[in-house]
Amino acid sequence: MNKLYLWGIIITAAMLGFTYVSVGMSKGGLNGDIVNMLAVAGAVALVIITVFVVIKYVRQMQTDTAQGELAEESWDNIGEYKNPVPFGWAVMFLGTMVWGMWYFIAGYPVNAYSQIGEYNEDVAKHDAKFNAEYASITGDRLVEMGESVFLAECKVCHGLAADGIDGKAANLNVRLEAKTIKYAINHGSNNHLLGSEMAMPDRNALFNAATGALISDEEIDTVSDYVANGMSGAGKEIFENTCASCHGMDGKGMDYVAPSIATFTPTLVTNVLNHGKKGAIGTMPAFKRLNAKQKEAVGAYITNLSK
Ligand code: HEC
Ligand code: HEC
Repeated sequence: MNKLYLWGIIITAAMLGFTYVSVGMSKGGLNGDIVNMLAVAGAVALVIITVFVVIKYVRQMQTDTAQGELAEESWDNIGEYKNPVPFGWAVMFLGTMVWGMWYFIAGYPVNAYSQIGEYNEDVAKHDAKFNAEYASITGDRLVEMGESVFLAECKVCHGLAADGIDGKAANLNVRLEAKTIKYAINHGSNNHLLGSEMAMPDRNALFNAATGALISDEEIDTVSDYVANGMSGAGKEIFENTCASCHGMDGKGMDYVAPSIATFTPTLVTNVLNHGKKGAIGTMPAFKRLNAKQKEAVGAYITNLSK
């Protein structure tokens, strides 16, 4: 047998050996994973074809003399024959492309194992366990759960006592502070507080229904204090004529029209957690990683605080 073929067999055997050791056939055939096995089979076939095609041409180079029609161009007097691409190379080239596409589209990582998929599966499993244990809790237990979520996730900004740490975040012991209300009237509000795109117009579209006049600076101050004081004091009339058509006479809001500005509700807090919020104080980040029950619970906790 030709010495070259012997080398070819040795190289192929060595590569198969390395593959065997590194991918762990010993653990029951690539961990019993069909996609892995096909990918490795493809790689093995390519290795074998490559080694023997290389051998064929190396042998040919040893014996062949150049022949064929010369191309017109020459580079520093080195000419080039107009010979077709060797058949073996063409097969290799196409084979590599087909295998590469298969691997990318149907092989790893798209259709089989992925870390993201494993993470999602684990989270879904954990959520199922969590729901089985906690989905039905209500009342004091829900508020307690809310408190622990608050202490873990919210106190860094809102403070241990939920007072907003000297204005760094919203004081959650009251539904709204006057500056937040003024800001909403001056700039409008588009924070998905209803969970939808329904926004509040700014002061240029806030009319007093009795007089037909636009809301004035003075009225903004008065009505903001009225809302901040828990819907009491001066400003009742302004509120009823300018705000109540959307927020209701008692400020408790109307489904699909405007949120409650008199009290917190678990739904409102959930909407803030889903979308985040921008306002007079700054930016409240969204908390998508909390599950629905945790959002409801922390909402119940905050609703309880501001009662
Ligand atoms: C045309 C209906 C409409 C009118 C009139 C209206 N609002 Fe609103 N308001 C809304 C809607 C809708 C939202 C929720 C917007 C959002 O998702 O950010 C809102 C939000 C708010 C907020 C933000 C609450 C928060 O948690 O930050 C405040 C404060 C507020 N309104 C106060 C008022 C006051 C005071 C008036 C009267 C001067 C008024 N609104 C008039 C529809 C209205
Ligand atoms: C990175 C700081 C930060 C964290 C963490 C944070 N918040 Fe906030 N939150 C803010 C700021 C700032 C505001 C005020 C936004 C504004 O200007 O209206 C706010 C406002 C709020 C409001 C008021 C919405 C309204 O209608 O005015 C609620 C409710 C709230 N946060 C709940 C939470 C809960 C629940 C958590 C924990 C899961 C939390 N926040 C975590 C910064 C934070």
